[in-house]
Amino acid sequence: MSGSTITPWVIGNWKMNPVKADALQLVENFKQLLQVQPIDENKCYLGFAPISIALTSIQSELASLNRVVYTVAQDVSRVAGMGAYTGEVSAELLKDHGIQYVLIGHSERREIFAEDAHILKKKISNALNAEMTIIYCVGESLEQREAGQAEAVVLQQICDIASVVSAEQWQNLVIAYEPIWAIGTGKTASPEDAQAMHAKIREGLNQITALGSKIAILYGGSVKPENAVELAACPDINGALVGGASLNAESFYQIAQAFANTK
Ligand code: 13P
Repeated sequence: MSGSTITPWVIGNWKMNPVKADALQLVENFKQLLQVQPIDENKCYLGFAPISIALTSIQSELASLNRVVYTVAQDVSRVAGMGAYTGEVSAELLKDHGIQYVLIGHSERREIFAEDAHILKKKISNALNAEMTIIYCVGESLEQREAGQAEAVVLQQICDIASVVSAEQWQNLVIAYEPIWAIGTGKTASPEDAQAMHAKIREGLNQITALGSKIAILYGGSVKPENAVELAACPDINGALVGGASLNAESFYQIAQAFANTK
């Protein structure tokens, strides 16, 4: 079943960017764009994922808008609660600071920080127990795609976490399909290829959970204003996880508008 009735999400993942003054300016510019031409909250959920030290200040900046724009953590500890874990921030402490959304499983964390299925399951479990909403990222490498393994890899990444997500908790998950070869490279998956993978993910979700047709599946990988409309037109693409283009308020706004207007 297609997911075209799902409210789209457009989330900006700032990764390890930008400096404080630029982050504040970006949010200010984005707020002005929304004030001039609002994007209806029911037509598109919006969010920014800043560096961890900026989460609460960005959240305060966004609070003065007359619509909700989520503040999203880029990561969460594999350890729950509180204790002697230098450098870590748990799901409970994120929640305590008012942060309810978190990215888990981004390919940069899987590859650079060696986060495997075992670690990701702990993060997912902790975030769900703290009643956070998770944007769980999946995606294949170029080698895996060229070897014809893309679908199997992506479906396995979803199966990896299924054992720690209860029947009702699937409503607190969003999936982001981000083919690694399309991240930061300027190479977007064609709308046909992205739609085909999203449809497979939808099929896979439907086999795991009764909520499969309700789960938003976002696309990420060189999303920009120039390709957002055609990606948004695909029935199983329910939004975008935007890296580079989210560092420019105008570009991010245009992507959000494309999803709000096309869906
Ligand atoms: P780019 O949009 O820069 O390709 O990054 C995508 C991404 O990794 C978002 O999480």
